[in-house]
Amino acid sequence: MAETHCASCHAIGKKGQSPNPKAPRFATLAQLYPLDNLAEAFSEGILVGHGPMPEFQFEPDQIDGLIAYLRSIQSPRKRAKKRVVN
Ligand code: HEC
Repeated sequence: MAETHCASCHAIGKKGQSPNPKAPRFATLAQLYPLDNLAEAFSEGILVGHGPMPEFQFEPDQIDGLIAYLRSIQSPRKRAKKRVVN
């Protein structure tokens, strides 16, 4: 889903730069927004009206999936040092 809808502007993986330099990398989104707020924002359609980002209409389970994915790729700032890099 992120690939289809978001990857044209955002870096959706753990690494890499966003194709659109203004679009925040997904791996650092939690540093900008608590992901819980994001789920709410998506379900209410708040993520509109800024930049070139289109308006999205997603089903609740799509949002859950997206948030779960975002959670899974966040680069943990504080825990980073303790982590073993594989
Ligand atoms: C056409 C390009 C484009 C697409 C497609 C796009 N975004 Fe964005 N997105 C942006 C830009 C540019 C910004 C930064 C806007 C700003 O800072 O004003 C942004 C910002 C965001 C933010 C931060 C919210 C904010 O208010 O700054 C989130 C979260 C986000 N995008 C999620 C997504 C998700 C999830 C998708 C796919 C479902 C997506 N975006 C698709 C361009 C895009």
